[in-house]
Amino acid sequence: MLHYYRILFIYNIFCVLHAASNSSEHGHHKWVGPVGHRLITVDVNGLGDFRSVQDAVDSVPDNNRMNVLILISAGYYIEKVVVPATKPYITFEGAGRDTTVIEWHDRACDRGPDGQQLRTYHTASVSVLAPYFSARNISFKNTAPAPLPGMQGWQAVAFRISGDKAFFSGCGFYGAQDTLCDDAGRHYFKECYIEGSIDFIFGNGRSMYRDCELHSIATRFGSIAAQGRSSPDEKTGFAFLNCRVTGTGPLYVGRAMGQYSRIVFSYTYFDDIVSHGGWDDWDHVSNKNKTAFFGVYKCDGPGAAAVRGASWARELDYDSAHPFLAKSFVNGRHWIDPTDG
Ligand SMILES: *[C@@H]1O[C@H](CO)[C@@H](O)[C@H](O)[C@H]1NC(C)=O
Ligand SMILES: *[C@@H]1O[C@H](CO)[C@@H](O)[C@H](O)[C@H]1NC(C)=O
Repeated sequence: MLHYYRILFIYNIFCVLHAASNSSEHGHHKWVGPVGHRLITVDVNGLGDFRSVQDAVDSVPDNNRMNVLILISAGYYIEKVVVPATKPYITFEGAGRDTTVIEWHDRACDRGPDGQQLRTYHTASVSVLAPYFSARNISFKNTAPAPLPGMQGWQAVAFRISGDKAFFSGCGFYGAQDTLCDDAGRHYFKECYIEGSIDFIFGNGRSMYRDCELHSIATRFGSIAAQGRSSPDEKTGFAFLNCRVTGTGPLYVGRAMGQYSRIVFSYTYFDDIVSHGGWDDWDHVSNKNKTAFFGVYKCDGPGAAAVRGASWARELDYDSAHPFLAKSFVNGRHWIDPTDG
């Protein structure tokens, strides 16, 4: 709780300063930041304000302007949750990532209420479309069974983040194919555990993953990250910093989902599970090996040599690695608590 209020304090100071500078510069601009705090408790056994996480989210009004802390007690919350774009400044805080879990089990080939296949994006157990979301000490799972090689339509997302300026710490993300949809916006993942088999972190987010464990459960072949940057003008990409890659392989560490895909691993430990070649150009026809930016900087572990195995992935020097080593990669100085970054 102390920690939470410190963040609120910093947000509020920032809002005041921002409002002041805006009014002196432009006179008319009104800063719309969060004002005030609200605490909502969720307990699966009925000891909180709500039993379900979605009910708690539903109780937050549209165009929310408060910092809303949703405290979720230990337990399994078997439900699909959506935080709509109109509800910024919501935090989910669990009792620990081993004890508070939100889970569901949709796959891309399952049919929705309209009879159509869900497709990957709509399988997420938890989807966040709002800006300024954060989560601490909680896990998100998609419990659909892992696909065997060659099975179609078994993508099953545990968490989709499509809102800007999202912060995660001490969270777990569990699935197999397509576990974490890092879709759009600036995101910071700190001390998280992310488990999956194929492209288990994917999307066109602009994200930093710091001190995270990336754990592969691939049975025949797997891949960690598929990044979707599609033009050199986009600032998106995945920066992995001081992470650990563990589990089973062989696996690619990155795949060029977009033509200008960007993925950098720095100071990261790799177990001996990296496939020869390390990286994949996705389709072997569109020359993404000429346009993707895949880099490594000061990585180690028995799998690190294989990560340097593709001629078109770079071993970065300090100057080229520098942008991927600090929270400025996600403009974090403006929205992440200095003690968190
Ligand atoms: C998260 O959990 C860890 C370990 O269980 C604990 O030390 C930490 O204080 C927790 N953080 C918050 C914000 O509750
Ligand atoms: C790059 O990909 C093209 C096909 O898109 C392939 O013909 C070529 O051999 C690849 N080059 C390297 C260095 O892997």
